[in-house]
Formats: sequence, C-alpha cells, structure tokens
Amino acid sequence: MNMEKLDFILDRRSIRRFTDQKIDSKQILTMLTAAMYAPSAVNMQPWHFVIIDDPSLMETIMEIHPYARMLQTASHAVVVCGDEQLQHDDGYWVVDCGAATQNLLLAAQTMGLGACWVGLHPREERKTAFSRLLHLPSHVKPFALVALGYPEEQKPRPDRFHGEKIRYNGWDLPYIQE
Ligand SMILES: Cc1cc2nc3c(=O)[nH]c(=O)nc-3n(C[C@H](O)[C@H](O)[C@H](O)COP(=O)(O)O)c2cc1C
Repeated sequence: MNMEKLDFILDRRSIRRFTDQKIDSKQILTMLTAAMYAPSAVNMQPWHFVIIDDPSLMETIMEIHPYARMLQTASHAVVVCGDEQLQHDDGYWVVDCGAATQNLLLAAQTMGLGACWVGLHPREERKTAFSRLLHLPSHVKPFALVALGYPEEQKPRPDRFHGEKIRYNGWDLPYIQE
C-alpha cells in the first residue's frame, strides 16, 4: 500500500495558533461539503453547521468554554450541530456528527489550513450555553466547535500505531505476535 496517500490523515494535528490571514467563504463551503459527505446512519445526514466569525461571539465563547483559547487567533469557527428530528434513531446524531467533524478536520488539513476540534457534547453545561448563545431550536444540539485558520504552528507526526490494540477473531488472540 502507498502510505503517502494517507499523509493527510497521519499528519493532521490540532492547530491552536493561527496567522492573521482570513479564510475565505469559498474555502469554508468546501470544508462543509466534505463534512456533508460523511457517512451517517441510514444516510439521514442529521447535521447543521453554524459558521462564526463575529469577534464578540468568539470572545463570549472563550468565556464560556474553558479550552477554547485558540479562538483568540482563529479566522472562523464552525459549530457542528446534530438534529434530533432528522437522526435515524435515538443517539445516532452524535455518531453521525463525529464522522462529519472528522471529515471537516481532514478537509482543512488537505487545504493547508489548521483546525482544532473543541468538545461540546457530552458536556451538558457547554451544550446549554451554546444553544442559548446561538439561538438553536430545541431539537438541534451543539456537538463540537471547530476552530479554523491558517496554521502558525507545525507539529511533528507522533507514533500512534500500537499493535497490542489489535486482536484477531475475538479478544483472546493478539493479531501481532511478539
Ligand atoms: C471529543 C474531543 C474533544 C476535544 N476538545 C478539545 C478542546 O476542548 N480544546 C482543545 O484545545 N482540544 C480539544 N480536542 C483536541 C484533542 O486535544 C486532540 O485531538 C488530541 O490531543 C490529539 O491531538 P491531535 O489532534 O493533534 O492529533 C478535542 C478532541 C476531541 C476528539
């Protein structure tokens, strides 16, 4: 297998420092297209995306979220939301939004942009605060915020392959024998 084709996956890192350069709206829509091509249960696509670039909104988010300081330099943020009325069945919107969020991050990586997943679900207090802030209808739940911008930091590829995490035909047998 040509591992180089996977570079965009293996080299994706959470970027938390961004340059002053703004992302344009076409780039945002390209990333959201990638997000909308994610798999979802019964192809229900139970997601919505709220684009944020209002500095005062970014400021408020930094006040209500303890780990969102990267918004200080981010060009935009996207809040990925799940729709309880569109999902296939109870609990599916979370899984589907996870797939959409990862597609968004990988699209940013291939476009030379930086991104960071900032968790909202399953922290109820964060979800409530974001629902209020963004005026979400009650059936639309905030899942994650993705901070976006041109990267001002570079991070090396860590070693994350752990053979002992792989088992064979059930739990009893490791796949890779030492
Ligand atoms: C569900 C989830 C929640 C996360 N929440 C935050 C967060 O609130 N703030 C943050 O800076 N990074 C957050 N991250 C990013 C992780 O810290 C990061 O993915 C992890 O350290 C691995 O680093 P990498 O993304 O560079 O590979 C979150 C990631 C996930 C998947």
